[in-house]
Amino acid sequence: MPAPDILRTPAAMLAWSKAAQREGHTIGFVPTMGALHKGHVTLVERARAENTKVVVSVYVNPTQFDNPEDLKKYPRTFDTDRALLEKAGADAIYAPDDAAMYDPEARTWVEVGELADALCGLSRPGHFRGVCTVVTKLLSTVRPDRAYFGQKDYQQLRIIEVVARDLNLGCAIVPCPIVREADGLACSSRNVRLTPQHRQEAVWLSKVLRDAKAKIGAGEREGLKLAGEMAEQLEAHTSGEIDYVAVVDALNFADLQKIEGEVLLALAVKFGSVRLIDNERVSVPVKP
Ligand code: PAF
Repeated sequence: MPAPDILRTPAAMLAWSKAAQREGHTIGFVPTMGALHKGHVTLVERARAENTKVVVSVYVNPTQFDNPEDLKKYPRTFDTDRALLEKAGADAIYAPDDAAMYDPEARTWVEVGELADALCGLSRPGHFRGVCTVVTKLLSTVRPDRAYFGQKDYQQLRIIEVVARDLNLGCAIVPCPIVREADGLACSSRNVRLTPQHRQEAVWLSKVLRDAKAKIGAGEREGLKLAGEMAEQLEAHTSGEIDYVAVVDALNFADLQKIEGEVLLALAVKFGSVRLIDNERVSVPVKP
């Protein structure tokens, strides 16, 4: 594969995309914060299969970090990322620095209302404002036909779908399945920061979700009861600190007393300073 072009400014990125579109290409876009793992590679492969050009952004966005320590510790592995993206067939890497991404006079934010106040938003104030703003900026610069988002960050995906719809961003948001390690742990750039003990315990996130899904399959319909059992199971098998365990409507994140319709089972657990999230979606027929 030829080495991907590296674009460092919005102007350079925009010029690249406009040239590609003039030549009749379609652009698939994978936004990332680097520290790439096999989950990202599957997004790039999907973009490769569905478009004639693929752009990947590698930018650790400071405005979405509510915790400065987390921002400082976020893994930055550009050389490895570049090699991996070359192998996966990316045509361009958009990797601006903070000065290029945010004008010092910038004062415009993209906010999505109450969808950002549930689940991860409760303990990460301002996080989704940062995500929505940077993703809107990325999409308006890369101008892709399709943008690929992993379902592990389910709330992010749902919020971006709403932003793209509300602001007529003109690009399809493509949800992609969660990629897991062999033992079930969802791939995440944060996994490398787990201690060996926490890494072993972290497998319980996916186990608890699988068990909960099986209980729904077996007829469980009480949302609060199921969430309580999920929390108990996590407490029994991990030393992690539970941020939330939720059984909610998958479209608006409202708590579900009765489990039916499009359901999201979601959880967030902190192992030391490493916060992990995972989720499962379940469709439950609505009984009249
Ligand atoms: O999911 C991520 O890696 C980030 O939130 C994103 C979408 C690249 C925005 O910074």
